[in-house]
Amino acid sequence: MDFSHEPVLLKECIEGLNIHSAGVYVDCTLGGAGHSTEILKRLNSQGLLIGIDQDKEALEAAKARLSQVNSKGSFVTIHENFENIRQILKAQKIKSVDGILIDLGVSSYQLDNEERGFKYQEDAPLDMRMNQNIDFTAKELVNTWSKNDIARIIRDYGEEKWAVRIAEFICSAREETEIETTSQLVDIIKAAIPAPARRGGPHPAKRTFQAIRIAVNRELEVLEEVLPKMLDSLAKGGRLCVITFHSLEDRIVKQFINSKLGRCTCPPNFPKCVCNAVKELKVITPKIITPSQEELQRNHRARSAKLRVSEKV
Ligand SMILES: C[S@@+](CC[C@H](N)C(=O)[O-])C[C@H]1O[C@@H](n2cnc3c(N)ncnc32)[C@H](O)[C@@H]1O
Repeated sequence: MDFSHEPVLLKECIEGLNIHSAGVYVDCTLGGAGHSTEILKRLNSQGLLIGIDQDKEALEAAKARLSQVNSKGSFVTIHENFENIRQILKAQKIKSVDGILIDLGVSSYQLDNEERGFKYQEDAPLDMRMNQNIDFTAKELVNTWSKNDIARIIRDYGEEKWAVRIAEFICSAREETEIETTSQLVDIIKAAIPAPARRGGPHPAKRTFQAIRIAVNRELEVLEEVLPKMLDSLAKGGRLCVITFHSLEDRIVKQFINSKLGRCTCPPNFPKCVCNAVKELKVITPKIITPSQEELQRNHRARSAKLRVSEKV
């Protein structure tokens, strides 16, 4: 299996992290270790890189790759969900870190590994778990969740206007036989979306697959809950770099950063401020960072990437 994954917005992330050679940096989404390799290269013998990934296969490959990097810095790799950042740092006896990187979503090797069931273009078991130690799969979701819950995630996480119809078709199909494969699901989605709406635009299953993947891996819940923990874990002057790939993720990151800028939230008619807003973050990149034309030509996967960089004050 090829574990290569071209890192997105690499130069911009390295600049954003503002790496000090003796610092401690956490790559929450180690993946193919593309970003981590560049971080590690910049560390001296006092520097430490902590690489986290919930995908055990990816972690093993990343570990092998990082061992080849010519650096005086050290690294550890940890098989965990980054939602457990506090426990991870505690176990490493680390109180605070100088930079945190999150590069959300699935990696190319996860997508390209047919058995993982992320792709609507390939026939595979319906799985979509990033962490294969967890029992809950896409198959369980489509075969056991209520019609309303399926419609809700397809609408909210996939922004799919045919969500209710797709959920209805899934529920009637599963009465006949269990839905076990990506192809079965693709056929059901195609049957649910009227032919004229299927013409043009992206693959008809794209939005539903995205929604199911987000739900299986609790992606948005985890992101929302972890951002305050990330802020707590940063030292003063520490940087938080987050790359998102769709508007739902970006909205969570943007709202979190905005809520920590110390802006008064009192109603305008209050004579004086009572909310006592405290500034905890400052924005380093007021203009959201997107890939250059050159990167987009080289790496199709970068097309919807957005980077936000902020600093703990
Ligand atoms: C887009 S890839 C990262 C690629 C990496 N930056 C590189 O340059 O090679 C995302 C990785 O993060 C992992 N991941 C996603 N959500 C995670 C989470 N909540 N906890 C731990 N790992 C996660 C995935 O398993 C995947 O390997």
